[in-house]
Amino acid sequence: MARYLPEAGRARLAERYDVEEDGAEVSREELLKRVPGAAALVADPTVAVDAAVLDAAGLQLRVVANFAVGYDNIDVEACHARGVVVTNTPDVLTNATAELTVALMLAAARRLGEGERLVRAGRWAGWEPNQLLGRELSGAVVGIVGLGRIGTRVAELLRGFEVELLYAAHSRHPEAERSLEAEHSPLEDLLERSDFVTLHVPLSPQTHHLIDAQALQRMKPGAILVNTSRGGLVDAAALARALREERLGGAGLDVYEEEPQVPPELMELERVVLAPHVGSATAAARDGMAQLVAENVIAVLEARAPLTPVDPG
Ligand code: GLV
Repeated sequence: MARYLPEAGRARLAERYDVEEDGAEVSREELLKRVPGAAALVADPTVAVDAAVLDAAGLQLRVVANFAVGYDNIDVEACHARGVVVTNTPDVLTNATAELTVALMLAAARRLGEGERLVRAGRWAGWEPNQLLGRELSGAVVGIVGLGRIGTRVAELLRGFEVELLYAAHSRHPEAERSLEAEHSPLEDLLERSDFVTLHVPLSPQTHHLIDAQALQRMKPGAILVNTSRGGLVDAAALARALREERLGGAGLDVYEEEPQVPPELMELERVVLAPHVGSATAAARDGMAQLVAENVIAVLEARAPLTPVDPG
């Protein structure tokens, strides 16, 4: 284990195999020293698994099991070229991540970060007619970028808010269009029409800075941007400018391009709610993820098909 795995998965693996945990603070140098001889490597979003790690591991390496649904930290092509299976943890974290997305929409819209800072600083002087006026999610136009598992769950959770749903995706989802009353829309159009824009595509060279200065310029004045996917989807400097110039109404972010660094220009802004990459951080989701990691490792080492492989691109 490049770092460590919650007990629900660690115990399953420890019953069968020699498990070496490198711990939360493991550096890349330590990982390169410790990985030789491993048959399986458990990674997570903080661990880059590239050709150098695979070569250091050696030819006996059979599987890289990511403790995450996103796998942009892994060079999947380099793994497959060496016959190494890659797995991730979809489904078990879908609801947790979708709920955090809705939480960030509401937190940004109702300015909860600002309000908390005011109270904690002892600067709150009592109820005021015009204090911290926000906006309501109910009845708003919500644009979902990427209608995969998490984007679809966000759409389902929003039904009670009676929002108007738009989605941008490479392919149409006729079933979602019917059951969620979601309207397929080109990204440019979605950005222009949405009061809330939420990102649910994976990070790849094609989606890097998908939301750049130009995309932000297209967004409706006062709109709110939410990102619980990967920081690299958004040009943070351009986002900070749009917020500073009050073109955007706010943002709710759980992910950053160079974690754990949070761009200082975002830190200074009141209208952005900053969460520390906790989309899947519920006990239920993390247990489910850990179990799935273990089942994937066991399957590959027992020469069975893994439950949730990452397909060759
Ligand atoms: C977490 O970021 C994940 O991709 O599961």
